[in-house]
Amino acid sequence: MNKLQVFELNHPLIEHKLGILRNKKTGTKEFRELIEEISMFLCYTAMNDAKLEDYEISTPLCKMNAKKLNEDNYAFVPILRAGMGMLNGVINVIPNAEIGHIGMYRDETNNHKPVNYFFKVPKNIENKEVILLDPMLATGGSAVDAIDLLKGKGVKSIKFLCIIAAPEGLKNVQQKHPDVKIYCAKIDEKLNEDAYILPGLGDAGDRIYGTK
Ligand code: PRP
Ligand code: URA
Repeated sequence: MNKLQVFELNHPLIEHKLGILRNKKTGTKEFRELIEEISMFLCYTAMNDAKLEDYEISTPLCKMNAKKLNEDNYAFVPILRAGMGMLNGVINVIPNAEIGHIGMYRDETNNHKPVNYFFKVPKNIENKEVILLDPMLATGGSAVDAIDLLKGKGVKSIKFLCIIAAPEGLKNVQQKHPDVKIYCAKIDEKLNEDAYILPGLGDAGDRIYGTK
């Protein structure tokens, strides 16, 4: 693993929230809220290299040079379904970013390979930094294909935000897309024989939407 490209949130508050999130007794409402909260912290961390512009303001006392972020430079792209659960959290951090959607599901009967069923992104996405959202990085197949699709549209700068990452998925994404920085709340142990993350949190989409 190229550690310089992978950022894990190491913080007691995140550990606390992850414990509740992973617990199978936690219900849909609280699960959804925690995904949003952790996503907000992930996005905050991923913005630590953001470029700012100077502009002049007047405080009640004097003039000063303030800094601003050009929010038009950013687009959030959740991978449906589970990635949508992260959107409200990241929108709190960059409210004016544009939003695209990539629909993908893992074909659980066919080697867990992702199947793409939807792709709609903002018109000038090639000029934006894209923040790709999916709570689970398991084999990495979905993330790799989503990044392929974005690069196919000319996107040059991509960050991937997830809640839980498996070492196998990190390796896969880094091999295929070494330029993409990955931000996760936790790197877990491994995948099981069904390509679920251990200890993980189960099926993120099902837990967010109360399906199954
Ligand atoms: C889950 C998850 C990722 C993918 C991760 O989605 O949200 O998109 O699996 O697995 P991978 O790294 O092995 O590709 P799923 O296919 O279950 O669809 P859903 O979001 O609609 O539930
Ligand atoms: N998708 C999930 O939702 N959970 C996993 O553990 C792996 C893939």
